[in-house]
Amino acid sequence: MSSDWPGVRLHVVTGKGGTGKSTVAAALALALAAQGKDVLLCEVEGRQGIARMFDVDPLPYAERRIATGLVSNGAPAGVVHALHIDAESALMEYLSMYYRLGRAGRALDRFGVIEFATTIAPGVRDVLLTGKVYEAVQRNSRNKGAIDYDAVVLDAPPTGRITPFLNVSDELAGLAKVGPIKNQADTMMTLFRSPRTAVHFVTVLEEMPVQETADGIAHLHEAGLPVGGVVVNQVRPRDLRVKDLAAARKGGLDRGAIRSDLEVAGVEVTDGLVDGLLDQARDHAIRRALEDAQRTLVKGMGVPSYELPRLSAGIDLGSLYELAAALRDQGMA
Ligand SMILES: Nc1ncnc2c1ncn2[C@@H]1O[C@H](COP(=O)(O)OP(=O)(O)OP(=O)(O)O)[C@@H](O)[C@H]1O
Ligand SMILES: [Mg+2]
Repeated sequence: MSSDWPGVRLHVVTGKGGTGKSTVAAALALALAAQGKDVLLCEVEGRQGIARMFDVDPLPYAERRIATGLVSNGAPAGVVHALHIDAESALMEYLSMYYRLGRAGRALDRFGVIEFATTIAPGVRDVLLTGKVYEAVQRNSRNKGAIDYDAVVLDAPPTGRITPFLNVSDELAGLAKVGPIKNQADTMMTLFRSPRTAVHFVTVLEEMPVQETADGIAHLHEAGLPVGGVVVNQVRPRDLRVKDLAAARKGGLDRGAIRSDLEVAGVEVTDGLVDGLLDQARDHAIRRALEDAQRTLVKGMGVPSYELPRLSAGIDLGSLYELAAALRDQGMA
């Protein structure tokens, strides 16, 4: 099976709050692992969403093995590791990697210097977070014994924050105009702007998140950052015919037929029950019409799009694998 993003090493997953960024990032990591890739799934200052989804203890600032991809065609599956990145730990690690400030770094922490440095300028926090992501993608000899991943998936900040988050040069512009920090920021931007990065959007088929997705894509284009695909999440089942949907909307469904179908199924039928079902059918049909309109807008965005069903029982590890298979079938991984 071929992927739409073969050369991509860093998959950034953004979207409006609550649309399913964390869920999709996890599913994408599993989908890539099913291709035999070793994957790092990162969250930045999250609320331990990864640990919750995979039902493991809260993640430390260390790469933990959390899952393997499903084996497909007998090919060996890759492993998914997870990492929870916080700015303070990222700064400590940076200081020890580049300035060998192991113990001295811990002293700085005790005196509150680390906290001071990470709160003094909001941009600095972002640069520390993205810096660690960069390090995971572009491992170098300073991080001895670290795993070389085939792909990194980032459960990223929401749409409104994603462009400044990745635009580290801009964030640092007022702080470091020359010198090593400036050089490192420039190197990070080279990766983030390259075809080895893709920024994917998650949306649901509602007006606000779809509009935010369109705006987000425009902002990335302006900033010269690579737009990936759009994952349409929580899609309602589409098993009714157009004709039936129209009838449901107009209150024109056949009451008698519904009544007799229910009776055949052994249900004790009352007028109230039929009325309730007709109301639900109308509600569903109206939402379906709204979703179809939003789907057309997504298709018009000029990037690949993928759909994931709304799973009525919620999300557990099994459903993450199910969503991963759906992403793979559609060529996202
Ligand atoms: N396809 C789906 N089917 C059913 N439930 C889903 C689906 N995708 C996500 N959910 C549920 O929707 C809720 C929000 O999902 P998730 O936490 O992934 O969103 P998010 O965009 O990361 O949110 P936040 O902005 O808070 O980080 C969760 O309870 C999740 O289990
Ligand atoms: Mg989340």
